[in-house]
Amino acid sequence: MKRICIIGISGKLGQYMAEHALSLGYEVNGVCRPESAHKLVRFGDRIKLFPGRTDSRPTIARAVRGCDGVLTVLAPWGVENYASGTARAVLDNADNGARLIFSCGWHITRDGRDRYPLKLRTFVAVFGKVARWLRFVDLEDQVRATDMIFSSDRLWTVVRGSDLEEGESEGLPVWSRHVGDPVLASNLTRRTDFALFMVHALTDDRLIHEAPAIVGRSSSSARKHADRAATVPA
Ligand SMILES: NC(=O)c1ccc[n+]([C@@H]2O[C@H](COP(=O)([O-])OP(=O)(O)OC[C@H]3O[C@@H](n4cnc5c(N)ncnc54)[C@H](OP(=O)(O)O)[C@@H]3O)[C@@H](O)[C@H]2O)c1
Repeated sequence: MKRICIIGISGKLGQYMAEHALSLGYEVNGVCRPESAHKLVRFGDRIKLFPGRTDSRPTIARAVRGCDGVLTVLAPWGVENYASGTARAVLDNADNGARLIFSCGWHITRDGRDRYPLKLRTFVAVFGKVARWLRFVDLEDQVRATDMIFSSDRLWTVVRGSDLEEGESEGLPVWSRHVGDPVLASNLTRRTDFALFMVHALTDDRLIHEAPAIVGRSSSSARKHADRAATVPA
């Protein structure tokens, strides 16, 4: 794997992914809204920027051409299918054989077998309705986006993030197939480590067609149930 593209590179997760990818020696393309390009000044010519909305098919087609991997921040902004438009543009335009890694939150379920804490169910129900009403965020569109990815035969991984916090890296998060697994109970991951997991997934074939739910490797639940975390990458 040589060149990768980060879709949504100017956000917090995107910038962390850029740092990890560059430190691993990848050549990095990136897509971000033109008004956000200034956030990336510190990267200089170490990244090749393609300004544009992440659901712009022509922008995505140019940015992902020749890339062995694509890291996509799925964000359900507005009520115009931004997340599903972004996912569709990536799935349709990425090179054959490219590894496609997408980010989302625990609230996304692949097989309906996740068991969610009441706090998360309440948050999704209330925030989802209010945010949609305000035309600010459409959580349902992130569901549409990931359903589209799950039914694709591309080489995808959907990384489902827990609650996030800033701070120094603790190393690669641990993961489970289902929320509700005791190993995930702490529900907290460093944002830099979410990014680390996304970049790691590019080269971990065990994660192809998986939707890992992640949690910080130093969290109390991860340490307490380390024996259950059989699917944790080394
Ligand atoms: N925040 C959490 O607690 C949390 C928890 C679990 C999972 N996640 C997942 O983590 C990923 C990153 O989320 P994040 O919260 O950490 O945010 P983030 O990394 O800062 O990413 C937000 C992205 O959305 C873009 N954006 C912001 N406002 C926009 C608008 N009005 N229209 C179009 N694009 C807009 C940003 O681009 P600009 O730079 O152009 O603004 C950026 O690319 C997402 O996939 C999210 O589902 C987040």
